[in-house]
Amino acid sequence: MTEEKMLKVEKIRRGTVIDHIPVGRAFKVLKILKISSDPGVTVSIAIHVKSKKMGLKDVVKIEDRILDSSELNKIALIADGATITIVEDYGVIKKFVVKLPDIITGILKCSNLKCVSNMEGSIIPSFTLISKEPLTIKCHYCEREMETEEIVENIL
Ligand code: CTP
Ligand code: ZN
Repeated sequence: MTEEKMLKVEKIRRGTVIDHIPVGRAFKVLKILKISSDPGVTVSIAIHVKSKKMGLKDVVKIEDRILDSSELNKIALIADGATITIVEDYGVIKKFVVKLPDIITGILKCSNLKCVSNMEGSIIPSFTLISKEPLTIKCHYCEREMETEEIVENIL
């Protein structure tokens, strides 16, 4: 059976579909997009969906919302390789894959409270990607290394 035939949530008229999210991470995506604090947004979530590519995956559909580049980079931090589909009048108008950049700037803060990037308001936090599996990034300023859990907690 194709993935489409196994669709668990309805198609949307207009908005953004985030597909191929690693299983269990849908709620982290919602947290990043600050969905829970915004009652004006309609969201469908499918978790533990069977996928040929990934075994299991999560899917999030957000109606009437287009994500900006900073939001897309934040999604790449916890769902590198997720597929973003922009829907208009029930049709797909744009589709692309999010990719974690080698340098990650301005979307999360350093977990080291004494880091100069946390002390000086004018400094934009910046990290280098060290490894994708397990996800590890390194602060440009204090060289603190951060992994997934810490990364998610510190997303701005
Ligand atoms: N989608 C949706 N509402 C629409 C159109 C598409 O929710 N009006 C969703 C589909 O359910 C799918 C994603 O957007 O999760 C991509 O749509 P499409 O490219 O039509 O699906 P597929 O060809 O099955 O692509 P993929 O292999 O990426 O699942
Ligand atoms: Zn630091």
